Amino acid sequence: MLNFLRDIQSLAERGPTETVENECPDCDGYGYIVSDNDVQICHCLADRQIRKRLKKANIPKRYQSKTLDNFKADTDQRRNASHRVRKFVKEFDVSTEKGGLFLLGAAGTGKTHLAVAALIDLVEQGHTGLFYNSASLIRDFRNRVGGSISDEENSRLNRLVSVDILVIDDLGVTRLSDFVREQTYSIIDQRYSENKTLIVTSNLNMKELEEQITYPVFSRVCGMCSIVNPGDIDFRISGRHSKSF
Ligand SMILES: Nc1ncnc2c1ncn2[C@@H]1O[C@H](COP(=O)(O)OP(=O)(O)OP(=O)(O)O)[C@@H](O)[C@H]1O
Ligand SMILES: [Mg+2]
Ligand SMILES: [Zn+2]
Repeated sequence: MLNFLRDIQSLAERGPTETVENECPDCDGYGYIVSDNDVQICHCLADRQIRKRLKKANIPKRYQSKTLDNFKADTDQRRNASHRVRKFVKEFDVSTEKGGLFLLGAAGTGKTHLAVAALIDLVEQGHTGLFYNSASLIRDFRNRVGGSISDEENSRLNRLVSVDILVIDDLGVTRLSDFVREQTYSIIDQRYSENKTLIVTSNLNMKELEEQITYPVFSRVCGMCSIVNPGDIDFRISGRHSKSF
């Protein structure tokens, strides 16, 4: 309700959108529709909010157009993976224990595609989400040399904990520094305790992953996520062959 009132207030202050060609015909660009005793958010404001959330979700360019509809379900494993992810996003709202997905399998099999497709779908449903690649987690925090966490780092870490859906792509891809290992544990532990959704991808096998991320993190990830394996056919290579012949 507060968000709604804030939106109305800021739009009322701003007035209608200036560019006439983009102006919404239903609300004249105000973002809300006033009838006799009611004020309703217009679909254009809802769309704008979704676009803003998608922008903040940090999805890499290559994956921004990935959806469940453009994931080819042409093998049993891909069909099964696609079905499981579809079911997960469809039931997301009604499920009390939201859990998450653990996308495992070889390189190029569509794990990141499916993780992003789920994330986009859930953001479009109105949830907040964030995509984080393990390597950038390491890059963003690697250069710290002791001392306290900066405000910027702190707010970045808070977002990793607070968003409705967090995707950690390529978990365990490289050995973690002590600081990053500590933070990864803390993020995952807090999400686990708060029952917040986590979507993880990894192309390591279970034993390798456990060694890389340590048992406490591994155990929580396995406890909160259902395993989905889209198979062992590298789409990057098989897709290329089918294009050139
Ligand atoms: N079943 C599929 N249908 C359509 N596109 C696919 C499918 N599987 C993979 N792709 C495409 O192939 C490319 C590689 O897939 P993706 O990056 O998701 O693989 P990955 O399993 O995450 O690989 P890695 O372990 O190397 O990170 C992407 O462009 C993705 O959209
Ligand atoms: Mg990937
Ligand atoms: Zn409108």
